[in-house]
Amino acid sequence: MKPSTIKKKDKKLWAGRFSEATDPLVDIFTNSISFDYRLLPYDLMGSLAHLNMLARQRIIPGPEAKRIRSGLLEIQKEWNQGKLTFPLEDEDVHMFVEKRLRKKIGPIAGKLHTARSRNDQVALDLRLYLRDQIRDLKMELQSLQKTILETAKNQGHLVLPGYTHLQRAQPVILGHHLLAYLEMFSRDQERLSEVFRRVNSLPLGSAALAGTSFPIDRTQVAQALGFSQISPNSMDAVSDRDFVIEFLSAASILMMHYSRMSEELILWSGLEFDFVEISDAFCTGSSIMPQKKNPDVPELIRGKTGRVYGHLLGMLTTMKALPLTYNKDLQEDKEPVFDTVETLLNCTRLLSGLWSNIRFKAEVMEKAAETGYLLATDLADYLVKKGLDFRTAHQVVGTIVAYALERNLELRDLSLATLKTFHSVFKADVNTVLNLASAMSQRNSQGGTAPQQVKKAIREMEMRICSLQFDL
Ligand code: ARG
Repeated sequence: MKPSTIKKKDKKLWAGRFSEATDPLVDIFTNSISFDYRLLPYDLMGSLAHLNMLARQRIIPGPEAKRIRSGLLEIQKEWNQGKLTFPLEDEDVHMFVEKRLRKKIGPIAGKLHTARSRNDQVALDLRLYLRDQIRDLKMELQSLQKTILETAKNQGHLVLPGYTHLQRAQPVILGHHLLAYLEMFSRDQERLSEVFRRVNSLPLGSAALAGTSFPIDRTQVAQALGFSQISPNSMDAVSDRDFVIEFLSAASILMMHYSRMSEELILWSGLEFDFVEISDAFCTGSSIMPQKKNPDVPELIRGKTGRVYGHLLGMLTTMKALPLTYNKDLQEDKEPVFDTVETLLNCTRLLSGLWSNIRFKAEVMEKAAETGYLLATDLADYLVKKGLDFRTAHQVVGTIVAYALERNLELRDLSLATLKTFHSVFKADVNTVLNLASAMSQRNSQGGTAPQQVKKAIREMEMRICSLQFDL
């Protein structure tokens, strides 16, 4: 079949050398429009900047550029009004825009693709998209940080057990526990800014892979689009997806933090711990057990962590044996990115809502901190302060714990006379050590749980959270 005999309707914009129409299965298999339509506003943004540069460099005449510009702006309007539908045969968002432009202004539309390829175009679109999403994500995360900080300020004084091996270990105050998560989120903010820095590099102007013979001005385009760098190597620029992998990696770490927090919320809301009540608005019921109130939101956040890790692993695997430069495999980068962005934004918003409506059960928490010999280390430290070496002190207190365990007593129930039978250095001042509040205030080392330290840490954290920058 000669090219001219392909039905006009089936003809692709690149089909000059083709004599047969694409197999319908191939259309379905190779299309990306069903998901990359999300890039449309960024594709237009990039095209407008490219167009202005082409006109300024006199690569295309001014009046023609004007017509192309008005066509692009019309498409932008249609997008904003939600008027567009995306037929599968249009292949991808770039072809869609070109075809639509051609419908509006005729063959002159073809001039827009001068000195450009879909290879540098798609890299540009994805970078523009990610820049926006990282900004949004950082802002949503900031509001979660603020919500948790509020809880730390208002209820930070409550005492609860700190755990190691999920066994009660030493008492801490809630503010200290919450600040641990806020530290993780501060690092997440930093990571996202780092990723942003590397996303923020202009690939356009690399053309298909080797640059172009037209006198383009990449600096102009970079300035118009707000890029702080220009990719130095055209071959790298069209085939590099490190920025995607870095984003997915920062996202995976953030999800891991959300998941750990969710796990604690799930544990704490169960009757075994019973430290918190998650509001009804963030739980669901059982279709058979009328008494149930399930922490579905934190469970699902924990669950969704798996899919974000999956996207990271998937992308690393997609990239691992790709020869330079562009390969169609790279089209597989979009769905993982879109899904990760959506998952992260949802999880962040949900956690903010959940934390604004959480209720802590102060008495249960304190009771838990008072049961299970959580002050044993304090007792050993007391002996060390009286002159024993730590190993001996540990041994002595170990025997005291065994003695108390056998009699179902707590350390504070033991009289001074009893304690003296274990070591003569015990004095009346041992009382102050076996008291929760004073034990807590003694852990006054830098970064410790003493209320004084925690208050200071909250103040510092507040400064850090409020000074986060989003005009990256
Ligand atoms: N839809 C393609 C992608 O997402 C756009 C780039 C196509 N380039 C090409 N040479 N076929 O990667």
